[in-house]
Amino acid sequence: MKKTTSDIGMNRTGIATSPIDSADITQAALARQPSHLGDESLILKVRQQYALESEGVGSVPPPVSLKGVAKTAVDMLKGSKPTVFIDKLGERAAFERTGVRLYQGALGKLEALGSWEGGPTREGLERILNDELSHFGLVTEALTKLGADPTAVTPSADVVAVASMGIPAVVSDPRMNLRDTLSALLVAELTDNACWEMLIELARGVGHDTLADRFQLALDAEAQHLSMVRGWLSSGVTLEARAAPMPQAEATRPAPLV
Ligand SMILES: [Fe+2]
Repeated sequence: MKKTTSDIGMNRTGIATSPIDSADITQAALARQPSHLGDESLILKVRQQYALESEGVGSVPPPVSLKGVAKTAVDMLKGSKPTVFIDKLGERAAFERTGVRLYQGALGKLEALGSWEGGPTREGLERILNDELSHFGLVTEALTKLGADPTAVTPSADVVAVASMGIPAVVSDPRMNLRDTLSALLVAELTDNACWEMLIELARGVGHDTLADRFQLALDAEAQHLSMVRGWLSSGVTLEARAAPMPQAEATRPAPLV
């Protein structure tokens, strides 16, 4: 079976690996003066200066259709800023699109490594993958109807992509097993649930009640994803903590791919 994350091995990252060397290093560090007498306040000031000078991560592109231009003008006359909704729709589109890739990666690990009792099934992962794809379609359709370009990377899409950069890195890392992958998917699903909730509030606030009703159905599906991923992960951790190999994983592990 694939090595689990909690097996004992030659991990040398801790100071206790070599008590003699670590005592030497500690003594040497205490004997020397710091190379710089400052503290973290200087770098904080530099970062504040950069933040003040920065123009932000980007902008929302202008509407691409005449209907979109007209709608934007009407909304602005009414005192609202329609680009906020477009920005957040762009964020959801980016996240759902990435979600499809994440579950494709999870399916690849399931195929190669197998699952465990109470762990993810092919049907379960495929169901979530298809939901993410349909949510991407829903948001894309909404953007198009509002006269926006659904292929544009909006500022919030950029922010969420940077914030969640580690998730696809875990999913695609061959050293990290299916259980590790579920830990990353849990982060994604928690974020996804919170962000759909905010998008629904925003949609209702700007008078798009029909869209908000459709988004609520997406949120209902996301709540199920979260529950499924949490359950799979929890059973994997519990099984491993019993100090026995995951029997189901052994039983269902397919033959090597090459
Ligand atoms: Fe999801």
